[in-house]
Amino acid sequence: MTKKEQLKKLNNQILKCHRCTLKLGCSNIVFGAGNPEAQIIFIGEAPGKKEDEIGVPFVGSSGRILDKMLASIKIKREEFYLTNICKCRPPENRDPLPEEVKECWPYLKKQIAIIQPKIIVTLGKYALNSFLPTAKISEVHGKIINVEIKKIGKIKLFPLHHPAAARINRKTKALFEEDFQKIPNLLKNKKEQ
Ligand code: URA
Repeated sequence: MTKKEQLKKLNNQILKCHRCTLKLGCSNIVFGAGNPEAQIIFIGEAPGKKEDEIGVPFVGSSGRILDKMLASIKIKREEFYLTNICKCRPPENRDPLPEEVKECWPYLKKQIAIIQPKIIVTLGKYALNSFLPTAKISEVHGKIINVEIKKIGKIKLFPLHHPAAARINRKTKALFEEDFQKIPNLLKNKKEQ
């Protein structure tokens, strides 16, 4: 099976998921989008209102910030893969609960195992803490961290602030923009290895 077919199969499994209650209140599962052959995966927190309506990650206000940053480093959405730790929208855009993150984690892990990216860019503390529960985004943003994921192996994590946090805080915005500019070099280094 190709990576695309494997992802489709996983998506079909998630359509039937009732591991937590989020499914009951959402309109669409937001599985993920982009290139199944990507070297880089961006992982956000959970779908918001717009994402829930359309079924695609980062198509609302955070998505516009992300798109602007992607344009600044000349990377198109078709070149990477984009998903969230939770595939269903938490009501009123509240933060996902630890048990919701825990129940959705095997799906994210499966997506990573299928795509086998070289670099995972986490957006915000929830995505970061899914991989490194005690890491502080204020300390590790913009730095490559080598992590080992059970049954997947070694992978490079590149934590960034969440675009929504960048929208509301000027200092965070500056850090987010500065860190984002490091991505092309990370990709270049990976291709050379
Ligand atoms: N915020 C996220 O973390 N993910 C989305 O898909 C949209 C907003």
